[in-house]
Order: sequence, then structure tokens, then C-alpha cells
Amino acid sequence: MGLLIAVVVILVMNGVADGLSMNYYLFTCPFAEMIIKNTVNKALQSDPTLAAGLLRMHFHDCFIEGCDGSVLIDSTKGNTAEKDSPANLSLRGYEIIDAAKEQLEKQCPGVVSCADILAMAARDAVFFAGGPVYDIPKGRKDGRRSKIEDTANLPPPSFNSSQLINMFGQHGFTVQEMVALSGAHTLGTARCSSFKSRLSNFDSKNDLDPSLDTQFARTLAKTCSAGDNAEQPFDSSRNAFDNDYFNALQRKAGVLFSDQTLFASVTTRGIVNGYAMNQAMFFFDFLRAMVKMGLLDVKEGSKGEVRNSCRMIN
Ligand code: HEM
Repeated sequence: MGLLIAVVVILVMNGVADGLSMNYYLFTCPFAEMIIKNTVNKALQSDPTLAAGLLRMHFHDCFIEGCDGSVLIDSTKGNTAEKDSPANLSLRGYEIIDAAKEQLEKQCPGVVSCADILAMAARDAVFFAGGPVYDIPKGRKDGRRSKIEDTANLPPPSFNSSQLINMFGQHGFTVQEMVALSGAHTLGTARCSSFKSRLSNFDSKNDLDPSLDTQFARTLAKTCSAGDNAEQPFDSSRNAFDNDYFNALQRKAGVLFSDQTLFASVTTRGIVNGYAMNQAMFFFDFLRAMVKMGLLDVKEGSKGEVRNSCRMIN
């Protein structure tokens, strides 16, 4: 496994932008990785559900304006930030990033970017939950723009397989990488508001989404009886990073339409079956795709800054 990771790292490093490196903080903040890992572990020991929050937050950061910590910025009087968009209202774990940043500022002020903290925290969360261990390049700078309207480019749960392929393709991901990244839904939950459209008046022909198992539809309806904010775990092990999510899709028990479409569509079904059968293959593809996602439109040098507080630009 160690050799495997080394190979991945070398492969990925070939595509790394000039300013980023695996040991970016070696001389300027040598304990950065350790501080972040300890902070994440401590927080997740008291609330393991936050692993999902950190992973999703990193995704929502990277897809909008690149991995530049823009999702962490608070709204101000004159600016409604990304985090106040409906698509981001259920993001969780901001306080973990704040806690890590606070400690890092004490150790090495003005050195470690919020974008890097988030990328490392998401990585550590995956490992904490039982997922693969991997190294990531560091050196991302923090962005100065965070606008609610930019979040229109996040994928909605109503997307079908070809729409997902298209959107992830625009960010340079292959179909296989898109399916692997969707496997992040092995962690966490969705609120009823994200899937209730599957349960009644689905389309002109069907009341119920036909890609949904009827027994599982009852489970979802029961969850929704507690209201729009009631949470449904994506799979039977919401805090464990495993391949259970793909097994659920095979049973037509995917929670979101955008989950089940990966099995319903012939283009992606084979990949789902592969990951359901072979967890090691899922882990390997997932970590590679995560490293790639963490490099989306990264800001370097004077194109960004190292924020003093992750919640506001300097
Ligand atoms: C493929 C397109 C995707 C769509 C349409 C999508 C959509 C969603 C939706 C609607 C939720 C539930 C939000 C709520 O009801 O509060 C959710 C949760 C989540 N998403 Fe995604 N997502 C996608 C891809 C990803 C990716 C690529 C990642 C990470 C690499 C990710 C990580 C998560 C996690 C971990 C949760 C659970 C969050 C929690 O429990 O707090 N998602 N996603």
C-alpha cells in the first residue's frame, strides 16, 4: 500500500502547479500537518458526524472559485458570501477550521492558508472515518472573492448521470473520477428537502421515482414525516468511510436522485458495480480524484493571500 501511495504521489506531482509542494511548510511551519491532524481528530472524537461536514466543505470550496477557502468567508454588510447560499446552508465543521487556524497563527503567524487547512482537514477526516491515507500538495493561497451567486455552479441533487458527467467534465474529471468522488456520500446524511421530490409527483408519468426501491421509498417517507430538515443517512454506516454507498445504489436505495442515477444509467453502472465489489479499487480511485480535486484552480503567489482569519479577507 505504501508503494502504491508513493506511485500516486509521483503521478499526481507531475501535474502540480509550480508553487505547490508536498513539503511546502517544512521550514516555515513544520508542525502544521500535525496541528491540523490533532485538531481534526479531537473534534471528530467528540462528534464523528463532522467528518462528512469537512469533506463536503472542501468539495464546495474547490468547485467554486477553486480551492481557495472562499467557502469559509462570512457575509458582510455589502456582500453575501458563498456560505449563505441555500446549497451551503447545511455545511458543517467551520469551527474545526477556526480552531486549527487559531493554533497555527500562534505557532507560525501568517503562514498557513485557510485553503490548505481545509484541504488537509478533509483528508484527515477521510482517514479518521476509515478511508484511505494520502498526502497532498500544499501552498494554496486564499482567495479574496466569495459571492453567493457563484454557488449556482454546484451540482444539484436533481442532476442525472449525463448532467453530472458534463459538470464534472468541465472541471477536468473523467466519468470514473466523478463516480469515485460521489462515493464521498459514504459519509453523512441528506435532509428531506434534498430528496422529497422523489417521493410524490415525481414526473408526469410517475408519482414515485421509478429508480427508487419501493421499500426504501417508505423509509425515506418516514424520515420526511419529521419535516424538511430531517436527516437520512446515505448508507447504513454514516460515519464509516467504506463502499457501502455503492452497495446501496445496487439495491436501488440511493438517497438522492443524483446518487441513484449512477446505477440507473448504463454509462456509470459498471463503475458502481466495480466499486461495490472492490473497496480497495474505490479507495485508490477516490484518493487520486481527491488529490486532483484539491488542485482545482489553485491560487498561487500574489493571486491570493494567507488570511489572518479564515472568516474574512485581510
Ligand atoms: C456528484 C454530485 C453531487 C451532488 C449532486 C451532491 C449533493 C449533495 C446533497 C444534496 C447533499 C445533502 C445536503 C443536505 O440535504 O443538507 C450532500 C451531502 C454530502 N455531500 Fe454531496 N453531492 C455531490 C458530490 C459530492 C462530492 C464530490 C463530495 C466530496 C468529495 C460530496 C460530499 C458530501 C458529503 C460528505 C455529504 C454529507 C454532509 C453531511 O452529512 O454534513 N458530495 N451532497
